[in-house]
Amino acid sequence: MAPEPEDDIMDEKNPPPLDEDDIALLKTYGLGPYSTSIKKVEKELKELAKKINDLCGIKESDTGLAPPSQWDLVSDKQMMQEEQPLQVARCTKIISPNTDDAKYLINVKQIAKFVVGLGDKVSPTDIEEGMRVGVDRNKYQIQIPLPPKIDPSVTMMTVEEKPDVTYNDVGGCKEQIEKMREVVELPMLHPEKFVKLGIDPPKGVLCYGPPGTGKTLLARAVANRTDACFIRVIGSELVQKYVGEGARMVRELFQMARSKKACIVFFDEVDAIGGARFDDGVGGDNEVQRTMLEIVNQLDGFDARGNIKVLMATNRPDTLDPALLRPGRLDRKVEFGLPDLEGRTQIFKIHTRAMNCERDIRFELLARLCPNSTGADIRSVCTEAGMYAIRARRKTVTEKDFLDAVNKVIKGYQKFSATPKYMVYN
Ligand SMILES: Nc1ncnc2c1ncn2[C@@H]1O[C@H](COP(=O)(O)OP(=O)(O)O)[C@@H](O)[C@H]1O
Ligand SMILES: [Mg+2]
Repeated sequence: MAPEPEDDIMDEKNPPPLDEDDIALLKTYGLGPYSTSIKKVEKELKELAKKINDLCGIKESDTGLAPPSQWDLVSDKQMMQEEQPLQVARCTKIISPNTDDAKYLINVKQIAKFVVGLGDKVSPTDIEEGMRVGVDRNKYQIQIPLPPKIDPSVTMMTVEEKPDVTYNDVGGCKEQIEKMREVVELPMLHPEKFVKLGIDPPKGVLCYGPPGTGKTLLARAVANRTDACFIRVIGSELVQKYVGEGARMVRELFQMARSKKACIVFFDEVDAIGGARFDDGVGGDNEVQRTMLEIVNQLDGFDARGNIKVLMATNRPDTLDPALLRPGRLDRKVEFGLPDLEGRTQIFKIHTRAMNCERDIRFELLARLCPNSTGADIRSVCTEAGMYAIRARRKTVTEKDFLDAVNKVIKGYQKFSATPKYMVYN
């Protein structure tokens, strides 16, 4: 047994090199029996998940978030820190436009003017002179074009929902409807006719007449019929607290109107601002007059007015400033008189259309019984007739109800009627 220990010693000094089997054995040292297969499966799972995510792409989920496996919170956070709110500026001038090295002169309010370039996300065609733009705070590069600044209360005046009044709901007033349509619809539908003749189409219409004769009603019918943008302004809305505010609103109003393809601006109760100029010694009305002058100025259209039609309605035409009424500003004056017999009959029919009436009511007789009454009076008669029926617990309205109502409204309320006053200029 002697050589054996010798052998051992020798082995300790320089052990024989490990062969392949030894290495494989050593590698499994400390591992469980299935660890390799488990590792393999884990790797396959990872690959599969990646494949699925790739195939899904950035699909919208219910929450609008990308799947959590694609979140990159760290870089998102960093990006948010870097992104700063933009500053609003006005691009006052474009230096050498339509070339590659175009430069933009911007004016940041209360800071300074800068000559800057464009950001990566804007194309040169988007930016025009005089436009509002958003610029970043470091290099003041133009990042986004902004819409023009228009007073929100002016934007609110656009009639978006079409009123449900049509020309059929306007009784009588045939001539007025005709005249109004001629001015409003003809130039928009057949502009070539005016070009051929070489005349400018009429720009505006003034509707005047006693209250309750359907001026506002007809304007609503026009708004319903037209595809053009319809802006409704009530005269008193333009009377503002601060000097210059009213005029600014008028300017912005027309600016907004000009930005549309076709637009109808309707000033209701224009006597609130259009009163004749006079000096009351206090100067309180000066502001109102300035507003009116701005309207006059816009009507004259130093800037091309485009396809803008102006309608105005008032029941005091005699108080309006002659400057406003001059041809070229408001070319047409349409008088809304009291409806004639036929018109009154028609108005009766219009207002009883939805009512539950007895069958053969003699509307013409009723119309004969209300001379000198307006459409609003007739509407009131119909409502009162309904009230009589309700009082008598009936479900239908009879002719007697109408006769009673005529007595009550036309005879009884005569002292409130505004018509006698208007008979003067009717
Ligand atoms: N020609 C008419 N046809 C039908 N209804 C009318 C007519 N004129 C007036 N009315 C009725 O009287 C109401 C008031 O009319 P409106 O047009 O507002 O008067 P104003 O001329 O003072 O602006 C209308 O809502 C409508 O019901
Ligand atoms: Mg009115």
